[in-house]
Amino acid sequence: MSLKHGIKTVGVVGMGQMGMGIGYVSALKAQIPRVIMCDASPAQVTKGVSFFEGLLAKDVKKGKISQEQADAARARLTAVGSIEELAACQQEGAGSIDMVIEAATESLPIKLKIFGSLATQLPLDTILATNTSSISVSKIAAAAVSERAEKGSREAWEGPKRALGLHFFNPVPVMSLVELIPALQTSESVTARARAFAEACGKTVTTSQDVPGFVSNRLLMPFINEAVMCLEQGIASKEDIDTTLKLGMNHPMGPLVLADFIGLDTCLAIMETLYRETADSKYRPAVLLGRMVDAGWYGKKSGKGFYDYTA
Ligand code: 3HC
Repeated sequence: MSLKHGIKTVGVVGMGQMGMGIGYVSALKAQIPRVIMCDASPAQVTKGVSFFEGLLAKDVKKGKISQEQADAARARLTAVGSIEELAACQQEGAGSIDMVIEAATESLPIKLKIFGSLATQLPLDTILATNTSSISVSKIAAAAVSERAEKGSREAWEGPKRALGLHFFNPVPVMSLVELIPALQTSESVTARARAFAEACGKTVTTSQDVPGFVSNRLLMPFINEAVMCLEQGIASKEDIDTTLKLGMNHPMGPLVLADFIGLDTCLAIMETLYRETADSKYRPAVLLGRMVDAGWYGKKSGKGFYDYTA
């Protein structure tokens, strides 16, 4: 039986594909009364909200949800432009923010900055989750300390205990998995509440130790990387590599289409983390993958990757 998560307000930092998907399942599936989305880019805030509304409209049209359910989910959503504004939402007498999920770019300095800022502005009992796909969760958790906390104080010691990894998969409304990654510091009660929240979002939860790439990307990224190496070495065309896996193994997408879908910059960042942290040559990123990122070919989101998306 699922434990009670007790979450009435959830914040999501980052209004890209992943963040909006997390906001969507939080508002629609888990029916969290307040879902506060946050992004520093005003253009991304506008884009994110219309993406959210578009998804609701599509689900109503398909008959998956009623107009009333869609309206209720939309009413649960608020969008703000900074972590300060996010934190200010709890001072309006509407209760505290129980959990924040960070879904920003896969970059350690960015995530450390966000966690430091969240820890400074939110109470010690707010759960802080990261949607990182490969970075050390223990390192991110160590940043969950308020700027005001003195070294060795209770606040400095307790801060990281409320942090953990909650790894969603793209597209979040469709993929039914969440990988839960407790950091070395995470308390058991925080892990249990985060699991209950993910289950309320309609997800099956698996747990991984805090190792580079966790289970999911330790298996997926070398597979994608090997497909890029097959292309690089002229073993087969991109279409034949993808068709082999799609029809031969019943994968919904071939590995190169999937890489474009995830983002080649993200794939490269994950391979670099695996390679750097293990020093194992089996994780060496394909040179072609690096060159494509150098060229600004990030896949579907930039209009060009292994395939062309400009049409
Ligand atoms: N948001 C919401 N719903 C979406 C969506 C999106 N971005 N994209 C597709 N969907 C929905 C469609 O609306 C459709 O819903 P319906 O069944 O109610 O009509 C359903 O998904 C199927 O979509 P399509 O018919 O358009 O296309 P497909 O049947 O080809 O499915 C797919 C699309 C679900 C993306 C499928 O190709 C797939 O499962 N691909 C593999 C995806 C995958 O492996 N994701 C994990 C990536 S790894 C990751 O995220 C981890 C990170 O750390 C790297």
